[in-house]
Amino acid sequence: MPLSLDRHYAADALADLDGPDRPSIDDDVLAAHRRVLSGETASPEMLGWRRMLLDPDDALLEDVARTAAEIRERADVLLCIGIGGSYLGAEAVMEALVPPFSDGLEVLFAGNHLGPDYHRRLFEYLDGKSVYVNVISKSGTTLEPALAFRLARRFLEERFDDADRRIIATTDAEKGALHDFAVERGYRRYVVPDGVGGRFSVLTPVGLLPVAAAGIDVRTLFYGAVAEARDLTDADASHPALQYAGDRFLFHEAGYTTEVLAVMDPRLKGIGAWWQQLFGESEGKEGKGLFPVVLQYTTDLHSVGQYVQQGQRTLVETFLRIDDADAGLSVEEEDGDPDGLNYLAGTPMGTVNEKAYQGTAEAHAEGGVPNWTVTLPRLDAETLGRLLYFYEHAVAVSGTLLDVDPFDQPGVETYKQKMFALLGRPE
Ligand code: PA5
Repeated sequence: MPLSLDRHYAADALADLDGPDRPSIDDDVLAAHRRVLSGETASPEMLGWRRMLLDPDDALLEDVARTAAEIRERADVLLCIGIGGSYLGAEAVMEALVPPFSDGLEVLFAGNHLGPDYHRRLFEYLDGKSVYVNVISKSGTTLEPALAFRLARRFLEERFDDADRRIIATTDAEKGALHDFAVERGYRRYVVPDGVGGRFSVLTPVGLLPVAAAGIDVRTLFYGAVAEARDLTDADASHPALQYAGDRFLFHEAGYTTEVLAVMDPRLKGIGAWWQQLFGESEGKEGKGLFPVVLQYTTDLHSVGQYVQQGQRTLVETFLRIDDADAGLSVEEEDGDPDGLNYLAGTPMGTVNEKAYQGTAEAHAEGGVPNWTVTLPRLDAETLGRLLYFYEHAVAVSGTLLDVDPFDQPGVETYKQKMFALLGRPE
């Protein structure tokens, strides 16, 4: 079932920008959308994330599911090593779909930062467990995962006769340090396809293998994205992903600087982190772009909620919610009403959460934060697949409207050059 988008801002909020004196933004959005469909964007060779959905590789999905079954059968822990686009998608899908407090294979992450304490404790924790490692790096030279992989390799080799079988490398098809090393050692390999940047790679083996190992039906996830891609192929300007792209562009042009993505369920926090990278790396260049910030409500309403309500008026906000007012435990009537909550007797927690969302959206709109809501009809693999593509397509359109290349990230190199100089890396 498709997603929906509702707007909460005064009808005149965009009057100066999208009014009678200006051609409708819809025309610009549709023009950008058509460029995405026809492969006429900046870096058109980087539209592989869309092409692969229009021509699904079922054999690959089955292969991934088979490897995942082996991992689930033989391992206590799958350690996923990667950074940026090489882990955020998998983590996001798992946070959304693997129920908390559940048994089964534990999936842990490493190499997504340089925290010394985390990595020391991680290997202490893994000692005595059956461990598989999925090292994920397109370039094979990114420092954080390369360091963690060196530690993990030593850990496995010291403990398991079949260490090489326990290592699966997801990397470039033909080149790179990790590719060459994996070939030399005979590791099992999956390919990060050309034409799919890291932040667009969640539906390739980069995301699919860890997610399948976590017990999620990757075929349903993948085909959810396929359904959204097909819907968008035939879409007009009323499609929620195109409205979203158009609105945020107009507010950007009006001088707004920041987009808050407010998730109304903790299961969506990881999606927020993935979205943050997708939009931050795709749009934040040439002095342009809305700065993407993820908040979790109602938690953060007791934190930066004060700022959102009354701070600098440069924010727009997207609520991301699940249509689940009936879900959760219900409040029960209690004699004497000691905490004053009897007025909620019989009300499911999902309804309380929904009212909190409605009240917040209204308060923020009145406080000068234009906001809109993306609603998931339910949270499952199919809907999540749709959401992933929704955002991928929206950012391609949005980056095209901004006239930046949504598929490069030249700024990421700057800190690396300075860090490597300080570390004394040989040229
Ligand atoms: O989106 C991107 O391209 C980046 O976030 C990369 O995924 C990240 O830098 C990791 O790169 P690599 O997979 O080459 O190690």
